[in-house]
Amino acid sequence: MSINTKGFYSTLAVKMEASAIREILKLVQNPEVISLAGGMPDPATFPTEELNEVVKQILAKNSACALQYSSTEGLTELREFILNWLAEVKEKAGLDNIMITSGSQQGLDLVSKVLLNPGDTLIVELPSYLAALNAFRSYGGEMVGIPMDDEGMQIDILEETLAKLKNDRKKVKFIYTISNFQNPAGVTMSLARRKKILEVAKKFEVLILEDNPYDKLRFEGEPIPSIYSLDNEGYVISLGTFSKILCPGLRLAWILGNKKIIEKLVIMKQATDLCTTALNQLIAYEYCRQNDIDKNIESNVEIYRRKRNAMLEALDKYFPVEVIWTKPQGGFFVVATLPEHIDTGEMLKEAIKENVAYVPGGSFFADGKGQNTMRLSFCYPSVEDIDEGIKRLGKVIKRRIKN
Ligand SMILES: Cc1ncc(COP(=O)(O)O)c(C=O)c1O
Repeated sequence: MSINTKGFYSTLAVKMEASAIREILKLVQNPEVISLAGGMPDPATFPTEELNEVVKQILAKNSACALQYSSTEGLTELREFILNWLAEVKEKAGLDNIMITSGSQQGLDLVSKVLLNPGDTLIVELPSYLAALNAFRSYGGEMVGIPMDDEGMQIDILEETLAKLKNDRKKVKFIYTISNFQNPAGVTMSLARRKKILEVAKKFEVLILEDNPYDKLRFEGEPIPSIYSLDNEGYVISLGTFSKILCPGLRLAWILGNKKIIEKLVIMKQATDLCTTALNQLIAYEYCRQNDIDKNIESNVEIYRRKRNAMLEALDKYFPVEVIWTKPQGGFFVVATLPEHIDTGEMLKEAIKENVAYVPGGSFFADGKGQNTMRLSFCYPSVEDIDEGIKRLGKVIKRRIKN
């Protein structure tokens, strides 16, 4: 008989359980099922040949560095490249303000580790990125949600909430926002709101954690300066990643922020993984040095724009009038809101029977609401599958509305 492991777990491990939805989504492995659930980039966007070329060169000429530990901050040449490449941070950030992480998910974990004590409050958008909520939860962060509209987080409600929390003597550590093409809602924060959120953060002395993985995947409209670039006082920590613009398999991302906070994050990262793999950092660096990453991003934007259009057209065609949805100008996701009485978590089994999957919205809402919402991703499936998937889902929803 094997050992009973139950008595060994930390309080945290006991608390964190695999969600029922995750279990259901395992069924999505079935090739018959069209998945509008996952947020994986389209592999057609990976520059495989160019990466193959730089990997060969690195291993032939620079294996001593590539196969060695790197510094915890990350390779200087890669950090310098990122600082120069991101035009809006060029003037304001130096090497002391940037570190490399093994994916932005590690950034979320490290920031939580540095800033949160169990019971500390933080602000999140309603809805927000599930794996970030789980990172915050795992350090005992208590989340207060702020609703969004077409311009992103509603700052008047944020201000009222922060005033109330201050009155209740609750320590609020940071405001978490995904400012561009939000995951899951697809909403982008307007410039006016970005300026206002910064003002409010300063007034209440709260940090801002700006998670920005989709900013370069804009299909239309003018880019909006990041909150990080608008800040001159070190209130904003910004997360960027190569996952959506190069490939997620390298697990490469960066954190920009106040020098003092970066120092703490580096100390925490040492305890986590010592360093991000040098080989992968060199691959990204050499790829960017020898190729035009912006050009690759432009052609990826074309691919995702076509898919976004296919999804919005299909939604118009197949979804009943009772359903509304967001219209993202970039990124990977749309959120649809169904009539209140429909629980999308419960409806998922029926959708899978019709060979289509989505992510029920409830798990994205820190306040436990949003049961009548769903996240639909257009990043991975083909244009044809998007059309067919939305058609199948439309049928399921229409049936539910009738009953
Ligand atoms: C908002 C957001 N933050 C962070 C991540 C994690 O990105 P990475 O692959 O860099 O860990 C994702 C991935 O989907 C995301 O959507």
